Amino acid sequence: MTPAETSAHPETSTPDGSDPRCIPHKMTGPLPVGAECRYPNYSAEEQDVWKTLYARMETLLPGRAADEYLTGLHTLDLERDRIPALADVSRKLERCTGWRICRTPGLLDAHDFFSYLANRVFPSTDYIRARSELDYTPAPDCFHDIFGHTPMIVHPRFADFYQKIGQAALACRDAATETELTRIYWFTVEFGLIRNPAGLRIYGNGIISSSGETQHCLTDKVTKIPYTPERLGAQPYDIWHFQDPLFVIDSFDQLEQEFVRWSRERGLL
Ligand SMILES: [Fe+2]
Repeated sequence: MTPAETSAHPETSTPDGSDPRCIPHKMTGPLPVGAECRYPNYSAEEQDVWKTLYARMETLLPGRAADEYLTGLHTLDLERDRIPALADVSRKLERCTGWRICRTPGLLDAHDFFSYLANRVFPSTDYIRARSELDYTPAPDCFHDIFGHTPMIVHPRFADFYQKIGQAALACRDAATETELTRIYWFTVEFGLIRNPAGLRIYGNGIISSSGETQHCLTDKVTKIPYTPERLGAQPYDIWHFQDPLFVIDSFDQLEQEFVRWSRERGLL
């Protein structure tokens, strides 16, 4: 899941604004959390879309995905042949980093989304894209949310950083700082790269849940820039094309420490 923002939100709009999955939900009551999330009655076709997506990414990720992501995926032991139950993933995450999962009906209003992050709860969808959208969907779905996002939340420093993004977002009082923070979110949580001992690797969930981005992002066609929150905050993004440039962290310690510094300088943490 990605926060719903104002005009430039990455998962809020289709070119003609017609996709109802892309309209942010404003909560009217608490969402089901952890064991309260019921397992939907998925069709065989929906289960097969998950299986197809998982099998495809499993062949692409070795040598491309960050060691930390692969460790998280291994720890969560997500089912390959069946859409995992949010309640199960939540229970496993809680054991690792104290995070839980709530079930959201679609894209969440930004304030609601960041409120959950600030409380170490990750809002996840439980529906899956259509087979015609295997390569790309502008809407959040559970392959993006579960396969893309949850393995990184197993990592303790990433988990802390993710909570602080939520806390800092709730403290934002001006539109310019909100824009910077949304860009930081985009170029780290969704599209971040890390320097692992064996080379550049992907930890961004928006890349990991897209076979096209995964194959493209480490090539010479993409400019790679060292991470600083100031530089990311100044970089607009384009949701309709492959991302260029991308930003590289040295470690999740650096990611968190630099973000905390940036946030404190702005009175957000
Ligand atoms: Fe996302």
